[in-house]
Amino acid sequence: MTNQPDFAELLSRLVGAPVSGLFGALLIVHIVGGLTCVVTGAIAFLSRKARGRHPSFGEVYYWGLGVVFVTATGMAAMRWSEDAYLFVLGTIAFAVGSFGYLARKCRWPGRFTLHAIGMSVSYIVLMTAFYVDNGPNLPLWNRLPSVFFWIGPTIIGLPLLIRALRRRNRLRLPVRGLARDDHVASHSGHVWP
Ligand code: HEM
Repeated sequence: MTNQPDFAELLSRLVGAPVSGLFGALLIVHIVGGLTCVVTGAIAFLSRKARGRHPSFGEVYYWGLGVVFVTATGMAAMRWSEDAYLFVLGTIAFAVGSFGYLARKCRWPGRFTLHAIGMSVSYIVLMTAFYVDNGPNLPLWNRLPSVFFWIGPTIIGLPLLIRALRRRNRLRLPVRGLARDDHVASHSGHVWP
């Protein structure tokens, strides 16, 4: 009675090829995880780097990134010839995100700088993977040359990262900055333990 496509067909249209039930289930979890990362990562980045909002959203971002990595790996394994590069991007995003997360959690020396770089670069790579995969199908975005999807997130994200690091007065002399991290934290009124 109805001509509406079912859910599996919708997912297949999204991917551009017929997908199995398992692939479809991974994709749904993946999209929820990806959207969670986009929102919580931006909020964490824009929040004051103190107890409360920043670490709460950062925590959700990191575990969302884990969900994106696991689901992307599963999907890439099923469509390896099309998705191998996404597996590489997902691995890089999760690896540098884990580095940034652990730097803060395990209180490594220089953790503020390492944490900021790790988390920010993971967000840039996350957005790169999203745009490279989905940009050509998004209205208006599909008018941009595909090279933009590869470099756009870096062009936008890197200056923001550098500005954030400079604001903390840690990038001008990176080596000294790394060594001074703990000192600066204890004298700057920053409440990160
Ligand atoms: C590290 C980041 C990411 C990686 C490695 C990744 C990887 C993948 C992979 C392997 C697929 C299956 C593609 C296919 O077989 O055609 C996929 C599909 C998809 N992803 Fe992601 N993704 C990432 C981030 C995101 C984010 C942040 C979102 C949403 C905000 C997202 C939304 C989607 C959507 C809508 C699809 C279905 C469309 C398509 O297949 O082209 N992804 N992704």
